[in-house]
Amino acid sequence: MKIVCAYSGGLDTSVMIPWLKEHYGDAEIITYTGDLGQGEDLEAIRAKALRTGASHAVVEDLRRPFLDEFVMPALRAGALYEGRYHMHTSLGRPLLARRLVEVAEEHGADAIAHGCTAKGNDQVRFEIAAQTLAPHLRVIAPLREWDMVTREMEVDYALERNIEIPITKEKPYSIDWNIWGCAIECGEMEDLWAEPPEDVWQMTKDPADAPKGSREIVIGFQSGTPVSIDGEQMDSVQIVEMMNKICGDYGVGRIDMIENRVVGLKSREVYEGPAAIPLHLAHAELERLVLDRSTAHYKAKIAQDFADLVYDGLWFSPLRDSLQAFIEHTQRFVTGDVRLRLSAGLAQVTGRRSPYSLYDEGLATYSDGDTFDRRTAEGFMAIYGLPYKTWGRVQRRGGY
Ligand code: ARG
Repeated sequence: MKIVCAYSGGLDTSVMIPWLKEHYGDAEIITYTGDLGQGEDLEAIRAKALRTGASHAVVEDLRRPFLDEFVMPALRAGALYEGRYHMHTSLGRPLLARRLVEVAEEHGADAIAHGCTAKGNDQVRFEIAAQTLAPHLRVIAPLREWDMVTREMEVDYALERNIEIPITKEKPYSIDWNIWGCAIECGEMEDLWAEPPEDVWQMTKDPADAPKGSREIVIGFQSGTPVSIDGEQMDSVQIVEMMNKICGDYGVGRIDMIENRVVGLKSREVYEGPAAIPLHLAHAELERLVLDRSTAHYKAKIAQDFADLVYDGLWFSPLRDSLQAFIEHTQRFVTGDVRLRLSAGLAQVTGRRSPYSLYDEGLATYSDGDTFDRRTAEGFMAIYGLPYKTWGRVQRRGGY
């Protein structure tokens, strides 16, 4: 048997290599590591996978396809799960699943394996994507099968087999980090009233330590995609990295929220999205300027459905595909600039402009040069109010 195994080099996936061999008939293990911008040394991960018993280790930089094929479509959609979460984790899984499946096919493997737990959303994203893309491949989820229920048991298992494990750091946090954001989980935060300890944050400074005063930043969009910062054209990786740095220094993009997981439980989630949150804010503001009212309101509902699909592991689905087509069509005129002012923990819109702006100063002004024909409003009141006038006369009774 040959298994392609998603591998991060952490404790779970390190233990998985010998465990899979022992439980799946001395299987041959190929590891797959995709870099979504988590800032790790890929060559070190490759070497470690081989030392741990993999016959072959694939590592690759996926930042560009991650941003261009997954993150940017979700940004153009305005998709924030439950109105807040920028879904850096949710958007990464379908790409990793796709590459796992492709590598499995290249190497003629029989199965893929992942290190997701039974309680999380990530198993859903991996497995539904894999079922869709390669229905014939078997998926193995060792963490649902083995009976090592604590970290200590896994450490013992690794030590018995001379498997290198990550040095247990003082910080007992579980962190899922990529270029679009970070999710932090730790024991202390299971107390919903407890504030996240200051050292959990990976991408953002404490707003209290932000530079004094504020600074402006101008983000340029082309058809809904950010393409420049302060007038300088950049590719998606450069833009997101630069936003992470600048906005992270101001402590922008911290989120602490209760979230409904696919598997039915509520969890407390602590996130960072120093680029994601201000980019969503800026993109949404530009849409306010260029989309007509009906499309804007309708798109907001689609955005919610889109976010649910992504979060629920249904990136590769006919509905997500069709909603995407609608979204892209709405983005044709979402071109222009948005200016943000950053200050401790805050990003605020202070200006917007677009060649496709639907704002008409002549219509909006209360000063000289008003082009709005006041007389037409009278007829509008009569027609628009007519059904309510009738209802009020015939049916409305009593108190309000
Ligand atoms: N709750 C978030 C999500 O489902 C973050 C999950 C973080 N994943 C992890 N393996 N730590 O997208």
